[in-house]
Amino acid sequence: MPPLSAEQEALFRRIESTRDHVFVTGRAGTGKSTLLQHLAWNTDKQIAICAPTGVAALNVEGQTIHSLFRLPIGLVADSELEQSEPTRRILNAIDTLIIDEISMVNADVMDAIDRSLRQARRRRSEPFGGVQVVMFGDPYQLSPVPPRGDELRYIRDHYRSFWFFDAQVWAGPKADAGAIRSDGLLDLGRVGAPLHIAELGEIHRQSDVAFKEMLNAVRYGVVTADIAAALNAAGARTPPPPTGDEPPVITLATRNDAVNRINQRHLDALTGPVQTAKADVSGDFGRGDASYPADPELQLKVGAQVMFLRNDVGGGFSGDGPRWVNGSIGTVTRIAGSSVRVELDGEEHDVEPVVWERFRYAYDPGSRKLTREVVAEFTQFPLRLAWAVTIHKSQGKTYDRAIVDLGSGAFAPGQTYVALSRLTSLEGLYLSRPLRPSDILVDHDVRRFMAAVRAAGM
Ligand SMILES: Nc1ncnc2c1ncn2[C@@H]1O[C@H](COP(=O)(O)OP(=O)(O)OP(=O)(O)O)[C@@H](O)[C@H]1O
Ligand SMILES: [Mg+2]
Repeated sequence: MPPLSAEQEALFRRIESTRDHVFVTGRAGTGKSTLLQHLAWNTDKQIAICAPTGVAALNVEGQTIHSLFRLPIGLVADSELEQSEPTRRILNAIDTLIIDEISMVNADVMDAIDRSLRQARRRRSEPFGGVQVVMFGDPYQLSPVPPRGDELRYIRDHYRSFWFFDAQVWAGPKADAGAIRSDGLLDLGRVGAPLHIAELGEIHRQSDVAFKEMLNAVRYGVVTADIAAALNAAGARTPPPPTGDEPPVITLATRNDAVNRINQRHLDALTGPVQTAKADVSGDFGRGDASYPADPELQLKVGAQVMFLRNDVGGGFSGDGPRWVNGSIGTVTRIAGSSVRVELDGEEHDVEPVVWERFRYAYDPGSRKLTREVVAEFTQFPLRLAWAVTIHKSQGKTYDRAIVDLGSGAFAPGQTYVALSRLTSLEGLYLSRPLRPSDILVDHDVRRFMAAVRAAGM
């Protein structure tokens, strides 16, 4: 790990010496996750590290929020939180909760964390049950998964937006949002826990000034014709063929179907027989394949590069902790009927099928409550091919070379910014097609929140 810069060091000391809830933000590559790692190694406090997705958690050697807090899948709302004794004990031991990639945490989960900590620690009137919460992330990168249907109606009814910064735990009257209080805090116009904001300014991932300015323009949605031309000129190249020593250039694509196509091509290039694992599906999974949690027909060959889709739950006997997490990448070494052997960091593991449960919510506007039931089950190996990944799954990563494939167009705010800002230099950029103005999307709730942050001079 690199030594901390002066601004990272100052922020580390502030987090270490106070109980403030701090949101550490800054552009991609300003070393937010690096500061987090430093904190993890050097703090004197009892910390727990978590992140919204398995990949993000893997990146910072933490757990997913859902596994740490044992949260149900989907909207939590005000459903009862079940806490086992071990969970309660863990949550009671924490001084400071650290969350990476906070931009992907929705307001509902933020509030569930607050409620879970209050409940476990039996300090119901204190935000987060008295735990300090330090959040790292960049709201100009990917947002939480947008809610749909009844979940969307619930969020609209209870929150200003689905972003973590609009959670009730920071909540209160919202009329004077953005004012500066006498003590210098950003007053989001709320009476809940104060949210302190600290922004890192220096970019470490890229060194080229021109590339950094291009990324900045993409971030704020102010790409000029000149900047677009420069990015497109740099990216208009054919990726080199894979060699023995260098890994293949990973593809970052917007949609799963493009990712699947690329993976299929690499699979076809491997010799040896292809073996197909069919998922067992029962109940109603909605609109077909797109809503499945894994491939209904998973094709594998020995030698295939695969990514795990679930955290390991079966390997607890040795007490060594999970053998893999959602996002771990390995290579298939053997395929037998009921198990697939995967090599991961030099060790081989036999992987068996797992069950995914799909829930459905019904929202009763009268009582403002949700009800929930299991409507379907899906059983499959928790694996997928991984020569290409979605941009969503690349958040937080650093790549020297990548093919950015925006396909039929970026569809989420921050998507193009996340993809491009993974790269350390313009020399590593390969564009599958030129960028278009419509690929650059900025979320208006983020503009509103960050404008309030800037107006407060933070
Ligand atoms: N103080 C530093 N000196 C040198 N290199 C650094 C420093 N801090 C971070 N880096 C390097 O810069 C790169 C980006 O850092 P990091 O992943 O921590 O940024 P981030 O702000 O978390 O980015 P993202 O928003 O994309 O998640 C990494 O390769 C990291 O090693
Ligand atoms: Mg990061």
